[in-house]
Parts: sequence; structure tokens; C-alpha cells
Amino acid sequence: MTARVLHGDCRVLMAAMEEASVDSICTDPPYGLSSEPDCAEVLTHWLAGDDYEHTGNGFMGNSWDSFVPGPATWKEAYRVLKPGGFLLAFFGTRTYDLGVIAIRLAGFEVRDMVHWLYGSGFPKGGNRDGKGTCLKPAHEPIVLARKPFKGSVAKNEAKHRTGALNIDACRIHADDAQGGAYTVKRLKPGATLEKTGGNWRPDDGVAYHGEMKPGRWPANVVHDGSEEVLEGFPHTTSGLMKAGTRRAAQDHPGSVCFGTFGGDEAASDTYADSGSAARFFYCAKASKVDRDEGLDQFAPQQFVQFQTGNGESGAASSLSEGRDTQYRNIHPTVKPEALMRWLVRLITPPGGLVLDPFTGSGSTGKAAVLEGLGFLGCEMTEEYLPIARSRITAAEARAEIERAAPMQPGLFGEAA
Ligand SMILES: C[S@@+](CC[C@H](N)C(=O)[O-])C[C@H]1O[C@@H](n2cnc3c(N)ncnc32)[C@H](O)[C@@H]1O
Repeated sequence: MTARVLHGDCRVLMAAMEEASVDSICTDPPYGLSSEPDCAEVLTHWLAGDDYEHTGNGFMGNSWDSFVPGPATWKEAYRVLKPGGFLLAFFGTRTYDLGVIAIRLAGFEVRDMVHWLYGSGFPKGGNRDGKGTCLKPAHEPIVLARKPFKGSVAKNEAKHRTGALNIDACRIHADDAQGGAYTVKRLKPGATLEKTGGNWRPDDGVAYHGEMKPGRWPANVVHDGSEEVLEGFPHTTSGLMKAGTRRAAQDHPGSVCFGTFGGDEAASDTYADSGSAARFFYCAKASKVDRDEGLDQFAPQQFVQFQTGNGESGAASSLSEGRDTQYRNIHPTVKPEALMRWLVRLITPPGGLVLDPFTGSGSTGKAAVLEGLGFLGCEMTEEYLPIARSRITAAEARAEIERAAPMQPGLFGEAA
């Protein structure tokens, strides 16, 4: 597998790439956390097929963050992606709407929104007399979109290997869902689970006691395992539901279920289990080891670590008081390895090529090579290139070692 990071504007670089040449796109584009735009003006430009230029700097005064990428950039991403290929893109909570409209205008179909919940955010916008102008940031939304294709998913997969998510590779096991501690209640001792026709079933057709083998179907929520987030999930118990069972529209007396969820049929067996509802993929924010892996030759610099969810007016919000904030990786918005590995694994066919048009310090590239995938990155800010390339090179060396002798999850402080 090859990994490359190209220097330049991704729109120009992607324009030079072959059509339908990448299997997935996983990226963390500029959030555009600058002054509030005139939406009508933005959309007028975008609908006319023009670019919209926003004045002012974005997060931490970074000019690259002044506005979300427009449809013209996403159209190039659309062109180079295979039919049925998925796009995952992070956004800030204040600008998610505009970021996703641009993706829709480029032709993508939006499939879902993933929430990454965390407890480390600080409320901003003043705290005088019990009043403020912002809520405490506690999640980052990630849009899941797909390039449309003709015909069935199966036919598209047979032709391009794209169109469906890698559910089994991303199932949630108790270790991944730290704090979940779920127990499987109705399995007979010694019985195992078998995969039949795409579904996991007890081998004797009866529910039994034992360990849950395949793990939970991945949800559109990821959390950081912090006490604060875990406390927000009540302990619940659920019964086993066989494939094809119709779920009642009202799960609890007094609750109402709107939309297509009400009365949905279970596509595959679900499990009778109990535990905290934090039975979702767990991933903490990027650790210092993760940020700085492969950067021994770079001098450590004092750095203000900050949140990226809803930062206000481009100002830094320091989470770093009292902490060691000397980093070799000086990129302000590093994403954690475990989260990026889970995301690229979810959307990329085995051995496929992942594109990140907004590479930054290379977190997607690190994840891709560790997952045995190819990687192509674009980054326009020159000073981030050596950081990205060195981190990816170090990850390639680690991937070699992992392949030879698989390691335990958690090497870098997060669940794998
Ligand atoms: C939010 S950061 C990505 C950070 C990355 N997730 C990481 O872990 O380091 C976005 C990056 O996109 C780059 N960028 C912004 N506009 C770009 C463009 N048009 N072409 C290429 N890179 C761009 C910025 O320089 C910045 O490093």
C-alpha cells in the first residue's frame, strides 16, 4: 500500500486526479469558525456555481479556517470517488449546516450524521451574572455521505467494491465501549454464535448465556469515555430481538416515535443485554504520544491546545492550563488515531485507497496505513507537510510490526 501527501490546494490537486480513482474520502475540513456569513449571499454564489470568499480569519486566526469548503471543491471530491464510495467529513456545530449543504450541492447523498461526544469542552462566551452566549461544547458532528450509483448495492459492490459500510469490521465489543460493561443474558453456556446469511445467530437457535462474539452493530454515536459523558447514559436492559421482528413505535409508555424509526424491522438479530447505554465506540481525544509519534526530530513548542466543536470568533479556548503543552506536532486540530482508524475501516473496502483533501498533520493517513489501506492526502499549508509525512512514515513502520505481531488495543491510550 502506498501513502502520499501532496502539497497544494486540494481542489487543484483533485482536478488532476483520475475520475473514480479513490475508494473513500475521510476528512476534517476547515470549520469556518469566523464571523457569521450572510447565508443568502453564500447560497446565491453557490447556486450560481461561483465560489464564495469569506473575509476574516478562522479558528486561532488561521486563514485556512475562514470558511467551509464550497460545492466546487466537493465536486472534485465527488468526481474522483468511485460510485457508491463514502465520504466522512467532520464539521463544527455552528457551521455543519453550510458545510453539508455544499456537499449536497456537489451531488452527494447524505446517509447519516455521526456524533463524537466528549466531556473536555469548556463553555465560552462569558459567564457574567449567570448568563452566557454559548453552550458547553460536547460533540463534533461528522457527516456520512455517499456518491450515488445506479442499480443495487450488490451490483455496485461487485463492480467497484463500494456502496456498503463494513459493519462487521466495526462492531462494538465491550472493550471498545469502555464503561458499557454489558452482559449477554440469554445465551446457553458453551453455545457459540454462527454467521448465517449475513446474520449472527445462536448455533442452537435458542438464546443462551455466554460472551457476545460479533459485537454490537456500530451506532452513529462515538464517545470519549469520560465520566461526564458516561454519566449521561442511563443503565438499560434490552431483550433479544430476532431478525425481521417489528419494533413497536412506542418503546415506553408515554414516549412517541416519529418518522421511519417507528415500527422499523430488525435487519439482523439484536442481543439481550444490559449495562450503561454507553455501548458505543469509545475514543478519547488525541494523546500527546499519538500527536507526536514519529516527530522526534521536531523541536517541541509551547502550544495552546483547544477545542474544535464550536470555538467562537476564531479565538483559542485553552484546555491546557496546568498541563504539559509542549508539542512537536503544532497542528491545532489533531484527530485521534483510534477514531480515525474506526472511521476509515467503516467506509473503505479492504486494501482500498483513502483520500483526505484536508490532511493537516496526517491523522487520517496514519489511520489508513495502520488499517492496511492506501492513502492520498492534500495539504496546502507548507509547515504541516513534514509533520504529516513523518507521522505517516512512523505509522507505516508500526503497521509492519503490527502485521508481524498483532498488538493489544490501547497502545496509545485509546481503544483500538
Ligand atoms: C482541520 S485541519 C485538519 C487537521 C487534521 N485532521 C489533523 O489531524 O491534523 C484542515 C487542514 O486543511 C488545510 N487546508 C485548508 N484548505 C485547504 C485546501 N483548499 N487545500 C488543501 N488543504 C487545505 C489546512 O491547512 C489545515 O491543515
